[in-house]
Amino acid sequence: MKEWINQRRSIRQYAAKDVDRGLLNELLALSARTQTMGNLQLYSVVVTRDAEMKRRLAPAHFNQPMVTAAPVVLTVCADFRRTSRWVEERKATPGYDNFLSFINAATDALLFTQTFCCLAEEAGLGYCFLGTTVYQPQSIIDTLGLPRLVMPVATLTVGWPAEEPPLTDRLAVEAFVHEETYEDYSRNRIDDLYKAKEALPENQEFVKINNKETLAQVFTDIRYTKKDNESMSETLLEALRRQGFLD
Ligand SMILES: Cc1cc2nc3c(=O)[nH]c(=O)nc-3n(C[C@H](O)[C@H](O)[C@H](O)COP(=O)(O)O)c2cc1C
Repeated sequence: MKEWINQRRSIRQYAAKDVDRGLLNELLALSARTQTMGNLQLYSVVVTRDAEMKRRLAPAHFNQPMVTAAPVVLTVCADFRRTSRWVEERKATPGYDNFLSFINAATDALLFTQTFCCLAEEAGLGYCFLGTTVYQPQSIIDTLGLPRLVMPVATLTVGWPAEEPPLTDRLAVEAFVHEETYEDYSRNRIDDLYKAKEALPENQEFVKINNKETLAQVFTDIRYTKKDNESMSETLLEALRRQGFLD
């Protein structure tokens, strides 16, 4: 187990070879062994293979090339619709049009997604997780025809790897594990924990080409800005309202 996880990486370039339906369905079925709230499996997966559908999904993902280039795009949704429909058909009243239910369904959906990633990896497939799913969800909702109480939370582009990118760095375990109580981060500790990341040649290059003073500024001023985060929070909240998870 240690061996494969130490080799995992996101794959963004795929061979011109299809992902067999039988294999995909087997992996999706196995992923359903994931733990879920009340064993309700509060997720759905929309499988996109059609080129025109991928083209329609792409703008929501800022036209990242994997969306149209991958043989398969999976949109994993937090789904209280199916459970609510079941309940309604069985003389019971659903109470899942609220934020807590969204978080519960999103948790199920993301756990399912990660289990699928592990199984895909084991099968030799490559994948890339696209967080852009929650940036402009309304366009995905419209393209995929997602009804009330169904919200896209994750996208995976999936295919056979056509690249072997270098492994990315990770913070040391001391950076994120706290013994018994949370130990807040002093200036010295931050220096210590981020030293190796900041010293990586690729990160130093990143700072240079972006004309910044520190790596942190690349994140705050370019990649994930306050302005973008605030405006995309609004669009996310609006989509959650329209899907019935917020009043
Ligand atoms: C929440 C989340 C959002 C992500 N969004 C994107 C994305 O939009 N585009 C992309 O190319 N990679 C995306 N990734 C992949 C990360 O860039 C990648 O996991 C990270 O750089 C570490 O590299 P590795 O997966 O190869 O170890 C995302 C990953 C996560 C977990």
